[in-house]
Amino acid sequence: MEQGLYKSRTEILEFFNSHGLIVAKEALDVILANNTGPMINRLITKEVLETGFLTVKDIRDLMNLPPASNDRDFEIYLPDLRVRSSAEDFRGYFLSRYQKIKKILLASSSMRGTVDISSLKKPGFESREVKIVGMVTESGITKNGHKRLLVEDLDDSIEVILMKNKKSFDEIILEDEVIGVVGGLSAKGDRRTIFANEIIRPDIPFRVIDDEKQDPVYVASLSDIHVGSKTFRKPDFTNMIGWLKSSDNDSSRIKYLVLSGDVVDGIGVYPGQDSDLEILDPMEQYGRLSEFVNQVPEDIKVFLMPGNHDIVRLAEPQPILPSELKKLFNKNVYFLPNPYNLVLEGKNVLLYHGMSLNDMVELIPGMNFSTIGKALEELLRRRHLAPKYGGKTPLIPANNDYHVIETVPDVFITGHVHSHALGNYKGVRYVNSSTWQSQTEYQRMMNFSPNPSMLTMFDLKSRSTIIKDFKT
Ligand SMILES: [Fe+2]
Repeated sequence: MEQGLYKSRTEILEFFNSHGLIVAKEALDVILANNTGPMINRLITKEVLETGFLTVKDIRDLMNLPPASNDRDFEIYLPDLRVRSSAEDFRGYFLSRYQKIKKILLASSSMRGTVDISSLKKPGFESREVKIVGMVTESGITKNGHKRLLVEDLDDSIEVILMKNKKSFDEIILEDEVIGVVGGLSAKGDRRTIFANEIIRPDIPFRVIDDEKQDPVYVASLSDIHVGSKTFRKPDFTNMIGWLKSSDNDSSRIKYLVLSGDVVDGIGVYPGQDSDLEILDPMEQYGRLSEFVNQVPEDIKVFLMPGNHDIVRLAEPQPILPSELKKLFNKNVYFLPNPYNLVLEGKNVLLYHGMSLNDMVELIPGMNFSTIGKALEELLRRRHLAPKYGGKTPLIPANNDYHVIETVPDVFITGHVHSHALGNYKGVRYVNSSTWQSQTEYQRMMNFSPNPSMLTMFDLKSRSTIIKDFKT
């Protein structure tokens, strides 16, 4: 069995049985829930082999998962994050991306009858409509002004032409995207070309959100606090914390609070940052942050995720903040990796700091930081948080592509660009979560005005959303 394919209950059981091991039911559930695929071999330690039994505690210990506890209604998995990447890791990474998105595409009725590219090259070919799923490895314009793509699946590749007089020509297709192509196959000698009629995206299925007739339970979102910067908007942030502590009708219904990255300004993030800093030592910056966060009422669970200014490595997926920082914060504060799909009250809340939004603004014509909601929709359509590999988004290729949006989110939260954009795409409520930092010198140079000091609340029991503006 190849690594990374340990998906089904039976396969996992067979794998352990082949090593003479019995797996506890709870242990199996944890393996499945935590997407353990590539790490599974590491679970077979000398100790486990000696006892012949794999317990849930063995798995939690070996995978560094926090202990299960009854007061928790969510799970935090830690991704398999290796720092060095070989050619094999790249292969595994793109394979994982391809397979996950292909699975989503094949679930759509418009992709029924999809074939492998190699089957189009077999002798006895007849000109007809074909459907394929592949990753775009090249994209350009022909001398006649049509779009030309090279699309690859696991064994083969094919040229796809989007004629300029057809609707599919208007599709914005990024390299490394996995798409479905429906079109007419043509042959000239050995050469095969698909003339695309339609490009199919994995996309989000339309859903009607049912309002549950229940009292609201809010997840509140704020991002890019940048504590330590001279431009941190301390009075606004202090007011917001005061409001969270108050008996206000809305604030008292907040059960979860998400801080989606750049919680401090860090150091050495960009040249000359020192002169923009009020607190130079990042540990002191986190200390100052904790003075605010520890005032949040203890019945609110606070989730803290890193961004590009935080002191973990820049490349995504970013691991959780170092455990020594944990002691600065109260017990209701939980560290998350970036990106992360958090399940709260049975709803999927997808959190991503948002570094790839810089790439999306560059790659999608007409996009800018003030229309960033559209960029979030483009990510959802592609079911991927960083569709173009590389660019301004450093990614660590592992055997699992954590940026694929495998589960349709109910709420999608991002930050990073310091805009505020609230929207709804096919039933997915989304936000770019503002900032608590005033315009920086760099942003002034780029002629960008942030929209700071906003907190956004999503009711997990209905469609309602509330924005609280703390700008003074
Ligand atoms: Fe930021």
